[in-house]
Amino acid sequence: MTEALRSVIDPELRQSIVELGMVRSIEIHDDGRVDVVVSLTTPGCPIRSQFEHAVVDNVGPLEGVNSVGVGFDVLSDAEKSGLQQKLGRPGGLPEGALAQVKNVICVASGKGGVGKSTMTANLAAALSAEGRPTGALDCDVYGYSIPRMLGVNRRPEVNAERKIIPVEAAGGVKVMSIGFFVEENAAVVWRGPMLHKAIQQFLEDVEWGALDYLLLDLPPGTGDVSMTLAQLLPQARILVVTTPQPAAQTVAARAAEMAGKVDLEVLGVIENMSGFTTPDGQRFTIFGEGGGQRLADDLDVPLLGKVPLEERLREHADAGTPLAVAEPGAPASIAIRQAARGIIAATPVELPLMESIAMDTPAFAPAIGGTELPVVQAGGR
Ligand SMILES: Nc1ncnc2c1ncn2[C@@H]1O[C@H](COP(=O)(O)OP(=O)(O)OP(=O)(O)O)[C@@H](O)[C@H]1O
Ligand SMILES: [Mg+2]
Repeated sequence: MTEALRSVIDPELRQSIVELGMVRSIEIHDDGRVDVVVSLTTPGCPIRSQFEHAVVDNVGPLEGVNSVGVGFDVLSDAEKSGLQQKLGRPGGLPEGALAQVKNVICVASGKGGVGKSTMTANLAAALSAEGRPTGALDCDVYGYSIPRMLGVNRRPEVNAERKIIPVEAAGGVKVMSIGFFVEENAAVVWRGPMLHKAIQQFLEDVEWGALDYLLLDLPPGTGDVSMTLAQLLPQARILVVTTPQPAAQTVAARAAEMAGKVDLEVLGVIENMSGFTTPDGQRFTIFGEGGGQRLADDLDVPLLGKVPLEERLREHADAGTPLAVAEPGAPASIAIRQAARGIIAATPVELPLMESIAMDTPAFAPAIGGTELPVVQAGGR
C-alpha cells in the first residue's frame, strides 16, 4: 500500500507524499475498502483533487482493493517545520519572499561561454515584451554581465521596509546584479559563505514584487551557486543552454548531472550559436549541428529554440539593448521570441511559488555569516 502511494507525487514539492510524510493514515477494511488520509500544507490546498485522483489511481488497482476513500487533514506547525527541514531549507525563506513570483528559471549550461547571459537578457526582454512581468537576477557574482547586456548600471535604492528595489531596464525588466554594488571591473573575491549570503539576499531582501518570471543567470559550471539556489528555491526549474556540437556529450552529461544533483526539474534546452548565415544566404554550421536536439532528447525535455550566430546579437548585448526587442525581425530574435513563447507554454499559470510551503520560520534558523551588501537609501540619503 505504502509502495503504491510512493507514486503519488506532490506536484509542487515534487516528492512523493510518502517521503514528505503527508500520508496520515491508511485503513484497510475487510470488505476491500481502503481509506487513506493525506495531510496538506494548507487547508485550502487547491490541488487536493489532484491528490485524490492520484491516490485512487494508484491504490485502486491493487489486489483485493474494492474501493478507495480519500480524506484530508492539515499538517501541524511542528510537522510543517519538519517538512521544511526535510526539504533542505531549515531556515526557509521568510514568508512573502518571492511570494508573488510565479516561475523561477535558472539559465545554466554544462560549460562557459555558450551564451547563458545573452539568452537570459534577451529572454527576459522577450518575455516582458510578451506582456509577462519579468525579472533578471545575475547570479554570476564573479563574471556578472547582465547589467551591461540590459543597459542598466546604478546603485539600487532601498525602500522604507529596507528592501532593495531592483533596477528597471528599458521594457520593464527588473534587474539585480552584484555589478550594481561594486566599482566597475573590480575583481570580486567571494568566499563560500559570502557567496551564499549574497545570493540569499538577492532572493530575500529584494522587492521583486509580482513577476511571472524571474530568470537567474547562473555562472559557468555546476558549483556552489547552483547548490545554494537549489536549496533556497526547490521549485526553480533549469533552462539549459548548449552549443550544437554533436560531440558535446560530456557537456550534456554534466548538465544532466547538475540537474540531478540539485534535484531541479529541467524545463527545456536552447541551442545557441546554431549555424551562421552569410548576407548572401549561405549557411555555415561553425559549431556543428544537432547538439541541442540530442541534449533535449537525452534529458527528455523540449528543444525550445535554435538561436543562430549573429553579429547583431553580440553588438546589441554589448550596447545594452537586447536584440530580441531592438530588432524583432532578426533571425536570432525570432528564435529567442519563439523560445520565450515556448517557456510561456511550458509554465501554465501556477500558484505563487512559495504559497504551499509558506510556513512559519522556525526560531532556530541558523544565521548565515557574511557581509551585507552596500546599499543607499531611497532619495539618496
Ligand atoms: N548567437 C550568438 N551570436 C553572436 N554572438 C553571441 C551569440 N550568443 C552569444 N554571443 C556572444 O558570445 C559571448 C559570450 O556569451 P555570454 O556571455 O552570453 O556567454 P555565457 O554562457 O554567459 O558565458 P559565461 O559562462 O562566461 O557566463 C558574448 O560576447 C555574446 O554577446
Ligand atoms: Mg554569463
